[in-house]
Amino acid sequence: MSELKPMKAAVIGCGVISKIYLKNLCECFKIIEVVGCSDLLPERSKKRAEEFGIRQMTNEEIYEDPEIDIVVNLTYPLSHYQVTKEALLAGKNVYSEKMIAITLEEGEELVQLARSQNLQFTVAPDTCLGGGIQTARWVIDSGMIGEPVLVSGFCPRSYQLTREDDEVRMVHLPGGGIPFDMGGYYLHTFVNLFGAIGRASGFAKINNSHRTYLNPRSPLYGDEFVETCINTMSASLEFQSGVLGSLLVTSECSAGAIQKIEVLGAEGMLSIHDPNNFGGPIRVKRSGNEEELTIPYTHAFFEMDRRGLGVADMAYAIKNHRTPRLDCSLGLHAFEVIHRVWNSTESGKSYTIHNQVKRPQAMPRTPFGGTCAEHVLDL
Ligand SMILES: NC(=O)c1ccc[n+]([C@@H]2O[C@H](COP(=O)([O-])OP(=O)(O)OC[C@H]3O[C@@H](n4cnc5c(N)ncnc54)[C@H](O)[C@@H]3O)[C@@H](O)[C@H]2O)c1
Repeated sequence: MSELKPMKAAVIGCGVISKIYLKNLCECFKIIEVVGCSDLLPERSKKRAEEFGIRQMTNEEIYEDPEIDIVVNLTYPLSHYQVTKEALLAGKNVYSEKMIAITLEEGEELVQLARSQNLQFTVAPDTCLGGGIQTARWVIDSGMIGEPVLVSGFCPRSYQLTREDDEVRMVHLPGGGIPFDMGGYYLHTFVNLFGAIGRASGFAKINNSHRTYLNPRSPLYGDEFVETCINTMSASLEFQSGVLGSLLVTSECSAGAIQKIEVLGAEGMLSIHDPNNFGGPIRVKRSGNEEELTIPYTHAFFEMDRRGLGVADMAYAIKNHRTPRLDCSLGLHAFEVIHRVWNSTESGKSYTIHNQVKRPQAMPRTPFGGTCAEHVLDL
């Protein structure tokens, strides 16, 4: 068997989430060799470089290094557009954290740029490639719940009470409100389960726009600020397959409600626990049988945090000349859906989604699950 030649990657943005990405990319996926990392704040890239034995670099050094094939953009949303654009113009394939950009026009421009440069561009979240959601997809495709009819996504969170570092966590700035921050987990899952969304409408709003910083450890503790982005959304979705759906998202609920997706089919019901993780449980209730069954994983990568799986999938896609499962058409589709629901609030109309997407290729099955199954990506 020939030796696997890894693709060289570098991370831009060394904040909170970079740690698990770097851990997984350095330790779990042989197709990726992380060579360096950069951050606007050099102390952050220095820390990560030391932790993972990689080079501390600047963005420019990463762009100019001809050996680097992939840039992993882990900056906050306000920087996604700029960093992705610079990396694509430098000839790098890009994996970007969600969302793709701040405005729809920027997102569309990036997708066109990637296509014109003949480069791969993929967008998080990658939890939809995990064993949980891929098992749910298998349940639907196997006909276990009959023809799917309705889906609901339920995403209650409380950013108000849990935020720690308001000056750097961008969830309260444009492009970072919860529908943008969390919507992708649900919409990427929906497209994996049923294919593209054809039309969207709904309502989005800013609840409690006048806030006070609540974290006593923050120097801003007690200061007032005004929320500038939507934090509550109720979306109504029509899939091209005929399935109808709703997505309810808020960052204003502190009651410990559970994030979940439920699919109603003609012959049963499927429950997916929180699409913001790689596992399940995945539960099925079939018509005529009151017992709820927990479905054993049919696919690998169901551990709690496998972030980086989408980067590895893109690397194998480049190697094998196939479309990555998180091709930017998926990220742009999800992004347009949220923007259209927001537009719908003002106009009262429902919108046809222009940026279309094909249902991504399913992950290959790994009988009996399997935690370390990188080979399934090599197709
Ligand atoms: N924190 C989480 O739990 C989490 C989970 C999943 C996804 N994400 C996503 O990951 C991304 C990063 O989140 P985070 O929590 O790590 O944010 P963070 O604010 O902790 O880190 C972002 C880092 O990017 C750096 N940065 C910003 N612009 C830059 C630029 N132009 N060049 C170089 N560095 C730049 C910042 O200095 C900062 O260190 C976001 O898109 C977020 O939605 C975060």
